[in-house]
Amino acid sequence: MIILDGKKTSNDIKTEIAESVKDIVAKGLRPPHLAAVIVGDDGASLTYVGSKVRACKRVGFESTLIKLPESISENELLNKVNELNKDENIDGYIVQLPLPKHIDSQKILMAVDANKDVDGFHPTNFGKMSLNLPTFISATPFGIMELLKRYKVETSGKHTVVIGRSDIVGRPISILMSQKSDPGNSTVTLAHSRTKNIKELTRQADIIISALGVPNFLKEDMVKDGAVIIDVGITRVVDSSVKGYKIVGDVDYENVSKKSSFITPVPGGVGPMTIAMLLKNTLLAYKGY
Ligand code: GUN
Repeated sequence: MIILDGKKTSNDIKTEIAESVKDIVAKGLRPPHLAAVIVGDDGASLTYVGSKVRACKRVGFESTLIKLPESISENELLNKVNELNKDENIDGYIVQLPLPKHIDSQKILMAVDANKDVDGFHPTNFGKMSLNLPTFISATPFGIMELLKRYKVETSGKHTVVIGRSDIVGRPISILMSQKSDPGNSTVTLAHSRTKNIKELTRQADIIISALGVPNFLKEDMVKDGAVIIDVGITRVVDSSVKGYKIVGDVDYENVSKKSSFITPVPGGVGPMTIAMLLKNTLLAYKGY
């Protein structure tokens, strides 16, 4: 069994990005600049955005954190988005999700300039991704593809079962894994909450990508020997630690890892990769892809 080490791989990617930034600055140019918008004070979202901003510093990017109150109106947020679209010093930005209920997230994401949409959430970028055209690929699926690539995991002709059909992970990764590309060229089954025979499907899978958010959902008896396991779950579970919680994946790691050929741990697998790929997208926004 080989651990797909997202912590190490993301550090390698950050080092590569930092080298590119050094070259840019040595030419007398300004470094890339990422902005992050956060609305409200949800603890998990603040933690994620904080990590994204810290990662910018580490690679030499400029970063701007825009904290807006929970009470902000949809129109006020749209104005902020338009401001960021026009700001020539900002190469890319993200609007952290989820947004408060009174704001239509789709409307906000549609208003983001597709050329600055380093999250890859805009329909233009999602469409380009689906057509295998150069674009921003959302950080989590991009991170999974990069891990498979760097560890030379064979995906061609394999049966990949994706669990979960979210716009951010399940659906895009199912498209990427089926594409005529390397990694890719997989035969993909996309399972979701209405799927009846999930265990029958996962037992046939060469590669399982679980993006469900249900702790310890994927058990040993659902996995065949030698399977590749990608765990995208990051659920906060209350415990007695100083922090008051721990992060738990979708996979019963202790038992499933014994049967797998490759597996991502939680934490330290897909999670750190997402931040590295957001930085990569920001560099692409700066340089052009
Ligand atoms: N919320 C959870 N994941 C993400 C992400 O990748 N981008 C944004 N903007 N919000 C998120």
